[in-house]
Amino acid sequence: MIIKSAEFVMSNSDVTKCPKSRLPEYAFIGRSNVGKSSLINMLTGRKSLAKTSGKPGKTQLINHFLINKNWHLVDLPGYGYAKVSKSSKKVFQKFITQYFSLREQLVTAFILVDIRHQPQAIDLEFMEWLGKNGIPFSIIFTKADKLKPNAITKHVEDYKSSILETWEDMPNYFITSSSKGIGKDDVLDYIDKLNANMFLS
Ligand code: GTP
Ligand code: MG
Repeated sequence: MIIKSAEFVMSNSDVTKCPKSRLPEYAFIGRSNVGKSSLINMLTGRKSLAKTSGKPGKTQLINHFLINKNWHLVDLPGYGYAKVSKSSKKVFQKFITQYFSLREQLVTAFILVDIRHQPQAIDLEFMEWLGKNGIPFSIIFTKADKLKPNAITKHVEDYKSSILETWEDMPNYFITSSSKGIGKDDVLDYIDKLNANMFLS
C-alpha cells in the first residue's frame, strides 16, 4: 500500500467522542516505550505524525489518524506504566478497555512487543482479554535493529513456544524496526488486504 495522505484527526480519552465514521480502524497497543508511536510514523512515512519520546508514558490519549482518506490508524497510551496500574485487575486504563469494548469499527489490534524480551505477563493478560472479548489481534515485534538476524529468529521461536503454552496457534506476527524501516510493507500490505475485505463485505 502506498500512503498518499496521513492526517491527525483528534485526541481524546472518551471513546464515545472518537470519530463517528464507519471507516475501518487499526489500533496499536503495547507496553509503554515499546515503540507504538514510532511505528506509526514509520508506517506512514511521516517523521512526527505521532509524538514519540524516550520516556515512557508519552502517549496519554486515544489518537486517531486518517490514512489515504479511507481508514483510521489509532495510537494508544501504553499499558504497564507505573503510574497507570496498581492492582493486577487494572492493568490498563479504563478508557483503553472501553475503546476495545465499544469501538465496532476496529478491524484488528496490533500488540507491540519488544523483540528482545520474553513474553511479559501484562502482554499475555491483554492477549487473553482480547481473545475472550472476540477482538482479533496480531503481534508486532519492535526494535528488530537491536538484534542480529540469528538472535531475531531465536527470540521469535522462544516467544512462539511460550505463547503455544496457552494458545492453540501463534497469532499472525510481524518483525519490525522503526529506525530501519523493517516490516513496513508487510504490515501495510496486511492492512490493505483486510481493508479490501471490509469494503467488499
Ligand atoms: P508511550 O507513548 O510512552 O507508551 O511509548 P511508545 O510505545 O509510543 O514508544 P515511542 O514510539 O515513543 O518510542 C519509545 C522509544 O523507543 C523512543 O526513544 C524511540 O526512539 C525508541 N524506538 C522506537 N522504535 C524503535 C526501533 O524500531 N528501534 C530502536 N532502536 N528504537 C526505537
Ligand atoms: Mg506513544
